[in-house]
Amino acid sequence: MATKYTILLLGSGGREHTIAWKLSQSDMLDKLYCAPGNAGTAKHGTNLPFQDSDFQSIHQFVIANNVNMLIVGPENPLVLGIHDYFLETPELAGIPVIGPAKHAAMLEGSKDFAKEFMARHTIPTAAYQTFNAGSFNSAVDFLDTFHAPYVLKADGLAAGKGVVICATKEEAELELREMLLNSKFGKASEKVVIEQFLHGIEMSAFVLTDGNSYCILPEAKDYKRIGNGDTGLNTGGMGCVSPLPFATPEFMAKVEDRIIKPTISGLQIDNIPYKGFIFFGLMNVNGEPFVIEYNCRLGDPETEVILPRLKNDLLELFHLVATNKLSSAKIDIAEETAICVMMVSGGYPGTYAKGMPVHGISNIQNALAFHAGTAFNPTVNQILTNGGRVLGLTAIAPTLLEAKNQVYSQLPLITFDGCYYRDDIGLDLLHYVENLTNTNE
Ligand code: AMP
Ligand code: GLY
Repeated sequence: MATKYTILLLGSGGREHTIAWKLSQSDMLDKLYCAPGNAGTAKHGTNLPFQDSDFQSIHQFVIANNVNMLIVGPENPLVLGIHDYFLETPELAGIPVIGPAKHAAMLEGSKDFAKEFMARHTIPTAAYQTFNAGSFNSAVDFLDTFHAPYVLKADGLAAGKGVVICATKEEAELELREMLLNSKFGKASEKVVIEQFLHGIEMSAFVLTDGNSYCILPEAKDYKRIGNGDTGLNTGGMGCVSPLPFATPEFMAKVEDRIIKPTISGLQIDNIPYKGFIFFGLMNVNGEPFVIEYNCRLGDPETEVILPRLKNDLLELFHLVATNKLSSAKIDIAEETAICVMMVSGGYPGTYAKGMPVHGISNIQNALAFHAGTAFNPTVNQILTNGGRVLGLTAIAPTLLEAKNQVYSQLPLITFDGCYYRDDIGLDLLHYVENLTNTNE
């Protein structure tokens, strides 16, 4: 009989709703549980009342419900060692976990570890050095080896706030003092990486790996700032596009040869098993790719544009990862363009209200509505906002322009108090294509 899976999916964002949506299309899925999930994952499976880092509850639930695959969406449980916990617990050890063990997750969990890994395996990245409180004065001197702007990175996880780009040396010195001497990010800033600022176009590449072979998933560009024209505060991501007109086959071949292959072989050389996704944050510097960060998971909202373009059965791919047979997979990607626009709560990424009723999701016909910060309240029979990023709307169409027009025609159909979204997701890429066309004419 064909393998069937009872899955526990950890996480509660737009990424997890998208993974749940994709898994629900698989014949290999028997049952899907999500911890803690959101109102979107509840449409495809059963949400559970415990957090994604509550190892005890995860353990008990997996055993009591015959779960035979754990899929980890966010980085936190991975960096805390959920995969190791399974391997080290006899009754859980045989259950495959999609997401790397703690040592490998340090590629995301420690900037210093990631930079050392890249240096050791000659993977192109910005020049850098790492400092601690004891070497504060050397850190200040090291700033003189670069020109403004200065890039400072807290070594550990700092809720996405640990990278600070300073316009002047004075600002950088103050920031260094805050991080190293005044524990700005607690333990996460006990060490700080100072690195060269790279000028270029940012994008992300993704692979799924069983540790030996890998499949390349669609690339994506995330719009990180809150305001139109890339202005204002950094967020978790306000929108995404895939594919990217500047990610030419020539550029992607360089990414594969210089970055993806040496990363996979580097993990093998260093004896670090890896089963799961690797997210490469890249800078395209005049056509040459550099790594600016690794993540040990899929991105959010990148997932909301990657998975709608993936024609493969995602659960079959996970099965091949679990059984070390990913080399037999053949990835099939739709050529169309996917765009996701995030609808967020007023005030995000600062303080915002929760519990606002969300209206109109059922009106959406020409887009996919992926829930992020939402919760279903059965007492009022209503979906309510439950986070800063509330919903990601994804349209997929033959061209970038059509996808953009499609998603923006659907967005006004959903309403909640304080709703905000950027008006310009994909606009820079349309201009890029126009310029290319004009130059070639
Ligand atoms: P990270 O958390 O490492 O992705 O950094 C957050 C953001 O800071 C990135 O998405 C880039 O926009 C920017 N960044 C990080 N490192 C560099 C760098 N070396 N040069 C230029 N920008 C950078
Ligand atoms: N959207 C960026 C991330 O998931 O890290």
